[in-house]
Amino acid sequence: MENTEKPLLFALPKGRMADESLALLSKAGLSEPVDNNDRKLVLESADGCFGYVMAKPWDVPTYVEYGAVDLGICGLDVLRESGRNVHEPLLLPFAHCRLSVAGPANRPDTPLRYESQPRVASKYPRLAAQFFRERGVNAEIIGLTGSVELGPILGLADLIVDLVETGNTLRANGLIEFRTIMESQAVLIVNRASSRLRAAEIQSVVERLRAVI
Ligand code: PRP
Repeated sequence: MENTEKPLLFALPKGRMADESLALLSKAGLSEPVDNNDRKLVLESADGCFGYVMAKPWDVPTYVEYGAVDLGICGLDVLRESGRNVHEPLLLPFAHCRLSVAGPANRPDTPLRYESQPRVASKYPRLAAQFFRERGVNAEIIGLTGSVELGPILGLADLIVDLVETGNTLRANGLIEFRTIMESQAVLIVNRASSRLRAAEIQSVVERLRAVI
């Protein structure tokens, strides 16, 4: 890709999606971050075409919507919860999981719609509230930022809405899945203005990634 006056800013998720994101860039032949200092948050690519911003996954949609970066990689779960308005040109083949309603395995077999005011712990308060609202269930959503499975164990919540990948965490904590709210995987997202103003460069990134997935 040709260098222009300004590198494209690309937000990559730190944490469990980082390795697969970097591996995909490499496979697509996109110039990778030159990482000479692991505390540095903006890393230039060797060819100067990209500035890679290592971001908390939950912040990626915000950076992209506001144009703080031109494009980014995050999970569909995080994107839908954020409600951010961005282009989504490409689903990426990793971070497959689902957002599910789960609860204690020994819970009485009551259909969710007959639950009166269940307390639901979640890192996804918007999606959880929407799911129960659409089913006419008056749920109280309790926002947590991690280890949501503790909710029913500690008596904080009747149910949880959380990500399930292998199901190991649920099983280890005596919980089972009741419903799938959505399937999730990684997604490439693009700022709406950047997709017009830097259309050729962004199209080239999309095509290179598309070619290897
Ligand atoms: C996620 C999710 C579940 C677990 C699911 O948590 O919130 O707890 O992974 O994976 P599994 O079905 O393969 O067991 P994460 O590890 O990101 O930590 P957190 O709960 O502290 O956010």
